[in-house]
Amino acid sequence: MGIGIKSWFRAACTRADVSRRENSHDQAHPGPSFHRSRGSSDGDHLQLAARALSSPTITDGAESAGRLGAVLRCVGEAAPQALGKHGPWVVTTAEQAREVLTNPRTFAPASDVSRGGAVDASARAPRPSASAVRVATDVFAAELIAATEVWRRGGVADAMQVLRLPVARSTVRALLPEAGPRVRDELADLTLAWIDALGPVIASSRPPGRWSRLRRRESRARLAVEGALAAHVDPAGDPRRRPPVLAASLAAGVQVPIAAGAWLLVLLAKHRPVAQGAEVVPGLVWETLRLRPPTWILPRVTTGEIDLGGERLPASAVVLVSPLLLGRDASLVPGTDLDAFVPGRWTEQAGTPGSWLPFGVGPHACPGRSLGLAQLTCLATWANALRWIAEGDCALDQSRGIFPRSALLRCTDARD
Ligand code: HEM
Repeated sequence: MGIGIKSWFRAACTRADVSRRENSHDQAHPGPSFHRSRGSSDGDHLQLAARALSSPTITDGAESAGRLGAVLRCVGEAAPQALGKHGPWVVTTAEQAREVLTNPRTFAPASDVSRGGAVDASARAPRPSASAVRVATDVFAAELIAATEVWRRGGVADAMQVLRLPVARSTVRALLPEAGPRVRDELADLTLAWIDALGPVIASSRPPGRWSRLRRRESRARLAVEGALAAHVDPAGDPRRRPPVLAASLAAGVQVPIAAGAWLLVLLAKHRPVAQGAEVVPGLVWETLRLRPPTWILPRVTTGEIDLGGERLPASAVVLVSPLLLGRDASLVPGTDLDAFVPGRWTEQAGTPGSWLPFGVGPHACPGRSLGLAQLTCLATWANALRWIAEGDCALDQSRGIFPRSALLRCTDARD
């Protein structure tokens, strides 16, 4: 299926929209700034940039193909690389990435298209407290046991499906600690339904019209989440706890950890690590976030002409920071063969896990970092005691961040 530049950018903008108005990963998906600014110089520029990047498929089986391939080919370059005559520009070093992400006045997050200002751009996303993260991790562990019964019985199941309820219920618990189990489960279901409705909007090759069937379905699902939240929070209270902001955080905090967890299991099935003990667990988590960061592109737009890494960028240039690319930077990652999944590199050698920015950095860095890491660590601890077997070919889907499509797995006892 063909994909235009707009959809390339929209899909690549896993986060941009969200972070601004909606403060969520997933809202970022639904529509990048070029919708909003169509007709403006911004929009024209984005469209030109996009044309240079059209990709033949939305579901590429290999990372060397499509959008990922274009970005990964910039590994090792010293200066920002233009992917087309008019950009976008891919940032190639951690230093440039920090400059871009910590300086929102010069490199503005691409703003959201889908809601037209429904959420105050200045409203910060809520950050779950340490105690909320602890309780939410317990919820994740309990739900994981229930959800994985199919695997314990020897069955085959898609990791993206199995992880839905554990992640959704855990994240709702973290962001809404006051909710009892019934409300929590209802909100988790509504959030998942919204995420499902967003999927086709994000993946469509042309931005669906406001009154299209896809948009109306997505908007109904979003309003259902906000309506349920309104019954439990004070709409006039703390701006970080207003229903649209909380709803966007829920979407961000559900879709991305599901994808990260599914990647972890897929990578375990593909490359069974040599070390099996508890000491390898942090390495499993960080290697997954290095080779398969679900939010693999953080887009920004220059607010004026600017020098970056020796390159003169025009105003309204699209600048892409990629944790996926930075994760292949030999100055950030210890060991050799950086394309390989080697969890032991994080226990055996010096190196700073996360220096490739899988959670971003700066004012729009991920507020759910502790929760995401806790969920992944819990999953890795449980999964590392088992032997994982992939059933069939799992594709790398680039249509919504990156996630494994058809992550069909089964498992046996590690001693089998
Ligand atoms: C493995 C799990 C996760 C990963 C890899 C991840 C990654 C990221 C990244 C890279 C960004 C920055 C995007 C940018 O700068 O454009 C981000 C932002 C964000 N994340 Fe996460 N995230 C994860 C889990 C979560 C969770 C559990 C929550 C909710 C509790 C959450 C909520 C958010 C929100 C609301 C933002 C937008 C912040 C803003 O724009 O101010 N994330 N995330």
